[in-house]
Amino acid sequence: MDSSHVENDLVNVLFTEEQIQARLKELARDIERDYEGEDLLIVGVLRGAVMVMADIARSLSRHVEMDWMAVSSYGSGTKSSGVVRILKDLDTDISGRHVVVVDEIIDTGLTLSWLTSNLSSRNPASVEICTLLRKPEALQMPVDVKYVGWDIPNEFVVGYGLDYKERYRNLRDIGTLAPHVYS
Ligand code: IMP
Ligand code: MG
Repeated sequence: MDSSHVENDLVNVLFTEEQIQARLKELARDIERDYEGEDLLIVGVLRGAVMVMADIARSLSRHVEMDWMAVSSYGSGTKSSGVVRILKDLDTDISGRHVVVVDEIIDTGLTLSWLTSNLSSRNPASVEICTLLRKPEALQMPVDVKYVGWDIPNEFVVGYGLDYKERYRNLRDIGTLAPHVYS
């Protein structure tokens, strides 16, 4: 669906489908340049990163392996629970490999700082992070992000994989959720 289908639930549209695709192509070019001649594994963080993974992988003009992890950080609301747990681990042994973790958004940074230190302990050749969105609060956590689509204001956003209570993930655009939806 697109934003016209959920018009009343959004305060604004932050990024259209076209803007998202264009930015992902730029990030894909950066990744190609940085990993030229190297083997590369991208790891998507379920479930939010599904759309970013699918589109960035297809924007790459090279071979790339894809694997997935699922971690719990948020409950069903709009605030972090502060607890990170692996719900689904990688199927791939990453020792000696170059890994890029792909996520849709970094908020507090809690999830990804925990995840990258977990992955680093498995002796990969390298671990970097690619995120479509980052909120300013992420700067408060020690997360070194190599590829960022956009920095956004500290508001709850939905669409393009980002959900509120499992809804809006299939929205093509990214918009700010209207407070009346969650209050
Ligand atoms: P962090 O650990 O606070 O960085 O949270 C990361 C995760 O929280 C993301 O992967 C999302 O699943 C979720 N999240 C954070 N902010 C938002 C938002 O604005 N909309 C939807 N999900 C969000
Ligand atoms: Mg996520």
